[in-house]
Amino acid sequence: MRRAVISGWGRCVPPTVLSNADLEGMMDTSDEWITVRSGIKERRISHVEPSEMAAVAGSHALAAAGLGIEDIDLIILASCTSDSVVPATAAHVHRLLEAPVATAAFDLNANCSGFVYSLITASKMIESGMYSRVLVVAAERLSALIDFTDRSTAVLFGDAAGAVVLEPTEEEYGLLSGCMQMDSSALTYLEVTEDGLHRMPERHMEDAYGGIAMNGREVFRRAVVAMGDLSVRAVTAAGLDLDDVDLLIPHQANIRIIDATARRLKLPAHKVYTNIHAYGNTSAATIPVALTEALEQGYISPGSHVVFAAFGGGLTAAAAMMRWGERTEPLERSDAVLAPTERSLMELLDANFQVYGFPEKLK
Ligand code: UT7
Repeated sequence: MRRAVISGWGRCVPPTVLSNADLEGMMDTSDEWITVRSGIKERRISHVEPSEMAAVAGSHALAAAGLGIEDIDLIILASCTSDSVVPATAAHVHRLLEAPVATAAFDLNANCSGFVYSLITASKMIESGMYSRVLVVAAERLSALIDFTDRSTAVLFGDAAGAVVLEPTEEEYGLLSGCMQMDSSALTYLEVTEDGLHRMPERHMEDAYGGIAMNGREVFRRAVVAMGDLSVRAVTAAGLDLDDVDLLIPHQANIRIIDATARRLKLPAHKVYTNIHAYGNTSAATIPVALTEALEQGYISPGSHVVFAAFGGGLTAAAAMMRWGERTEPLERSDAVLAPTERSLMELLDANFQVYGFPEKLK
C-alpha cells in the first residue's frame, strides 16, 4: 500500500526572546503564575512576516530530504496569521523558495490544528497518487495579534515556523491514521474579533482593533477532552494499542493539557515531547518545531510510533498516528537563516502597544 512518510524536517525560530521577567515588567503577572498555569518560560517575537520564517523552515526540510524545491509538487502552508489573504501566504512562500509554476500551493487555516490537518491532507493526496512530494509548512506570527493590556492571553503566544517534506513509500511506514474535527458550537471561545474581511469597514470607521480573545477555562476543558479522545481514536484506527505508542508530540498550548493527554494515553513523561517552556504557544507551528527538536535529541528511532495531537480555534482538533521511516538524520543541511534585525524587543512590541494599547506598567 502506498503511504506518505516524512523524509525531511526543519524549523525557524526568530531570535528575539520575550521572557516571563519581561512580562512582569509590563503587567500584573509573575513568572510563577505563568510557569505553574501554562508551563511557559519564554517565547519568540518575530521581526519578519510568517512567509519568511516559513521559507527558512522549508529550506531546512528540503535539505533534510535531499530535495530541491523543483522536486516538490505541492506546498501546503498552515497558518492563521497570514502575510496577506490575497494572495495566499503560500504564494509568498512559493516565491521566496523560488518554486516553479508546476508546484501548486495553498493556505490551510485550521488554527492550532493546522499542521495536523495539513499532514493528513498531504498524506491522503500522496496515498491517492495525485502527488508524490509535498512540503507542509506551518508558520505563525501570533505576536502581531497580542493585546498586552490583556494579561490572560498576552503571556501565552509566540512566533515560529516548522516544516516537513512528505514522500511516498510502499514500506509499512508513514501516516497510519488521522482524525480531524470541528466543534463550531464553541467558536466564540477563541477568536480575533476584529479580524476577517467582514470587519474591515468597521476597522476603518472606528479604528477599533482587538487582539486574541479567549475563554481560557472553556478552551482548556474542551482541549483536554478532544486531544485525549482523538489521540486514542488515531491509535485504534491504526490497528495499534496504547502500549505501542513510542512518542506523543502534542500541540504546545499548556503543559497541563499536555499532561492530561499523556495520562489518557497512559504514557510516562519520557514518551511525551514538550518544549512549551521555550516557545509558548505558536499555534500550528508547535508540532513541527517540536518534531525537529525531538529528532535532534534522539526521541525518535526508525519505526517509532509517533502520535501528533492538536487543538485550537474553531474549535478544531486533530490527531495522527505515524510510523517513522528508516532515517532520523538529515540527508543534507541548509544554511538558510532569517535576515538579522537591529530592532530591540520593545521596538518590536511597540506596534502592538500602538494598536491595542499600552500595558499597565508602561502607560
Ligand atoms: O492553542 C489553542 C488553544 N488554547 C489553549 O488550549 C489554552 C487553554 N487555556 C489555558 O491554557 C488556561 O485556561 C490559561 C493558561 C489561559 C489560564 O489558566 P487557568 O488556570 O484556566 O486560569 P484562569 O483563567 O481560571 O484564571 C485564574 C486567575 C484569575 O484570577 P481570579 O479571577 O481567580 O482572581 C485570573 O484573573 O488567574 C488570573 N490571571 C493571571 N494572573 C497572573 C489570568 N492571567 C494571569 C496572568 N498572571 N497572566
